[in-house]
Amino acid sequence: MSDGELTPSGAVDWDAATYDQLADPQEEWGREVLERLELRGDETVLDAGCGSGRVTRLLIERLPRGKVIAVDGSPAMVDQVRGVLRPQDEALLANLVDLELEAPVDAIFSNATFHWVLDHDRLFRRLHGVLRPGGRLEAQCGGQGNVAEFERAVDALSGDERFAPYLRGTLLPWKFAGVGETEVRLERAGFVIARLWIEPKRFQPPDPKRYLRVTGLASYLDRLPDDLHDVFVDAVTGSMPRPLVLDYVRLNISARRP
Ligand SMILES: C[S@@+](CC[C@H](N)C(=O)[O-])C[C@H]1O[C@@H](n2cnc3c(N)ncnc32)[C@H](O)[C@@H]1O
Repeated sequence: MSDGELTPSGAVDWDAATYDQLADPQEEWGREVLERLELRGDETVLDAGCGSGRVTRLLIERLPRGKVIAVDGSPAMVDQVRGVLRPQDEALLANLVDLELEAPVDAIFSNATFHWVLDHDRLFRRLHGVLRPGGRLEAQCGGQGNVAEFERAVDALSGDERFAPYLRGTLLPWKFAGVGETEVRLERAGFVIARLWIEPKRFQPPDPKRYLRVTGLASYLDRLPDDLHDVFVDAVTGSMPRPLVLDYVRLNISARRP
């Protein structure tokens, strides 16, 4: 993410090149979500929050005669994903909560994205709107309790006098929703749920500071002056137990539009 300014999509921009280098766990989780998505190979599939394209590439392999519509709200991510697309695929800069497509898609895939969208009711309504009747939604995102130790460390430091003038009053940049509330929201949007479940995943980043800068800390750094970036990253990582392990909790969604 960069300088905290909203992009034309209204979503924040990401450091796409660095994310692409570090997104090993996201790719691993994305593979598992993709395995759940049954495909003939000729469908049109939306990759909702495609990022730099590491998982989009795997989706493309599953669609030799089909098409991927890769959507992201970050201009840098959309530029980066173009590098993995074929001529028949499409990259689109859009905020998922406002997404409109020319024709409905056969399926929606999404990995490591929904928790960055704070209004899940609006998100699910829009996804339902661009999916054809009978189409599947297979997704995974951060769920309730995700990276709780890290969240506690960031929250505690937001009140620290060095950072508070810049961070006071800012909302958490993510929404780690639980199963019950997501069930209600999906059904309200018109989806029929096949399965909805929480799954713990541990990850020990080889270089925690570099990894957190481009993922969980990016939107905090956007708000801080440059000379406080290293200080904040050091303070967060220094206040967490060693070795620094991230206890991810993933929320899995298997649903369809009736
Ligand atoms: C952690 S990355 C995941 C990228 C990719 N799916 C993967 O598995 O590597 C989250 C992505 O969601 C995108 N994103 C966040 N909020 C969004 C929104 N409201 N609309 C569209 N994209 C959004 C970000 O720009 C970012 O590329």
